[in-house]
Order: sequence, then C-alpha cells, then structure tokens
Amino acid sequence: MGNQDYIVKKLRQIEILPTFPKIVSEILALISDPMSSASDLARHMDPSMAGEVLRIANTAYFGTRSFRSITTMERAIAVIGYEHLGYIVLQMPFLGMIQGADTTFNKKLFITHAIVCGSLAKLIGAYATAAVDQNEVYVSGILHDIGRIIMYRYFKKEWQEVLALIKEEHMPAVEAERAVYSVDHGQVGASLLELWNLPSAIVDGVRYHHLPEAAQQNRESAFATHLANQFAKRIDIYTDLENFDDFAARHREFCQAASESTDAVIIHDEIKFLSSAYDSLKSAKGLIEVTAGDDDTGSGC
Ligand SMILES: [Fe+2]
Ligand SMILES: [Fe+2]
Repeated sequence: MGNQDYIVKKLRQIEILPTFPKIVSEILALISDPMSSASDLARHMDPSMAGEVLRIANTAYFGTRSFRSITTMERAIAVIGYEHLGYIVLQMPFLGMIQGADTTFNKKLFITHAIVCGSLAKLIGAYATAAVDQNEVYVSGILHDIGRIIMYRYFKKEWQEVLALIKEEHMPAVEAERAVYSVDHGQVGASLLELWNLPSAIVDGVRYHHLPEAAQQNRESAFATHLANQFAKRIDIYTDLENFDDFAARHREFCQAASESTDAVIIHDEIKFLSSAYDSLKSAKGLIEVTAGDDDTGSGC
C-alpha cells in the first residue's frame, strides 16, 4: 500500500534532467516575449532537447524517409513554431520514461491527450474569473497526467494492482489509484513538480485536475486544467476536426455545462471559444503526429 510519505520518498530518488525547472521557466518566458528570437531559444536548450527539436523539425518537414536536411536550431525552430516548441520542451523529461513502454501504457494516446489538454487549458485560462497566467495553465494542461507516468515507471507493483482493479472490479481508474496508492495520479504528479519548485499555480492545476473543488488556492488554475482534461477526453483529433460546424454542434452543450458547473471559469461565448479551440487543435494535430509516433499499443490512460 502506498502513502504520501512513501511516494515523496521515492520521488526524491528520481533524478531526471535536474535542470528542467530552470529550462521550463526560461523557455516559457522567451516564448511569451514577442521580442525574443529563435537563437535566444536555441541558446537555452540542453543537447538532448536540441536533438529532439531537430528530429521533429526534420520529420515534420520532410517525413520520416527523407534525408535530414535541417541542421540548425534556428531553422528547426522556425519550422516547428514558437508555441509548439513548448510541447516538446515540457514533455522531454518524461518521454524517456515511457520509451519502449509495455502494453499497459499507451504512449501515443498519452502524448496526444497531453498536447490536446495543454492547448485547451491555455484557451480556457482566458475565461477564468480571476486572473491566471495562461502560460502556467498551459504547462499544467501539458503535464496534468505525468503522475501516471511516475506510477507506471516507478511503482510497478502498485500499477499492476490498479490495472487489476480496473479490469476485474470495473473500478474507474482514478478510484482504483486512490484505493492502491492512497492518492491519485494528480497528487503524485504535483508532488514531483513541487519538489522541482515549479510555480504553485502549475502544481495545483496538476494536483486537483480530478478534484478541482478541493483546491484551497489557485482554484481557477485547478478548474481550467480540470475542464481542459474533460474536454480533451471528448476530442478525437482524427475525426473531430473535419469541419467547424460539426465540431461546434458536437461540443457546444458540453461547453455550456462546463461553464455552468463552476464560478471559476465562465465561457460567455461558446462559439468564439470553440472556434479558437478548433484552430488551435488543428494546428497542434500535425505536431502530435510527429511527436507521438505510431506506437498504438497498450491500454488507454
Ligand atoms: Fe488525469
Ligand atoms: Fe487527463
């Protein structure tokens, strides 16, 4: 049986990319600074990030079977775009953990869901009733489920127990996690980000994404991440983005209900919101295809 002390003790032993929190804050500051340039961004990346950015830029531009011809970071960043760079940088430390994941972890689904949720969280953050930093909600959205990676990678025995409860007792995943670990993946992910000194709005967004009403502080961030997660679960980027009218018809009622469910986020004009969501998801789709790869095995997350 896990408990919070046991989990935090184990999290302290995880040493992945110790420079991550610093790099995240520097890169997010640069991305939101209209005066920054591609070479400013390139200077702040460590070699593994730079390698991944080059790989993705080449795949996005030339496809997987061509000769690689983008060799400079400036060119690679121009191909990928500033905002999309955020996805790559934020997920870097975690992608290694799920490299070659077995069939109990669906990497492609995980990455797709993270990127969709990040895009939506950023948009929903603009409708929060108290000011939130949209870049922070965006980070929360991208990282909200990292606790699942930690559970899968560092608590293997408990992970198997959770899977058994889901399969044999038909328990919802979050409930099964609470039964086995005493906490859910939101709390596990938040504990790690807290150890890394990430801003509290990001930590609380992640911690409370399945229980936003429990947030004492950063309520708006918690609700924005929660609603983005709910919305992201409804989206299938392969069938949902064919035309805007269908997209709006499918999701308008959800947006109304989501907005009425809390006073922390109020979406006054659903069509305007859905139109931004549609554009943002269309633009993220290409990146998802090259980042997530085509490993489509394993159960959902
Ligand atoms: Fe979650
Ligand atoms: Fe999620």
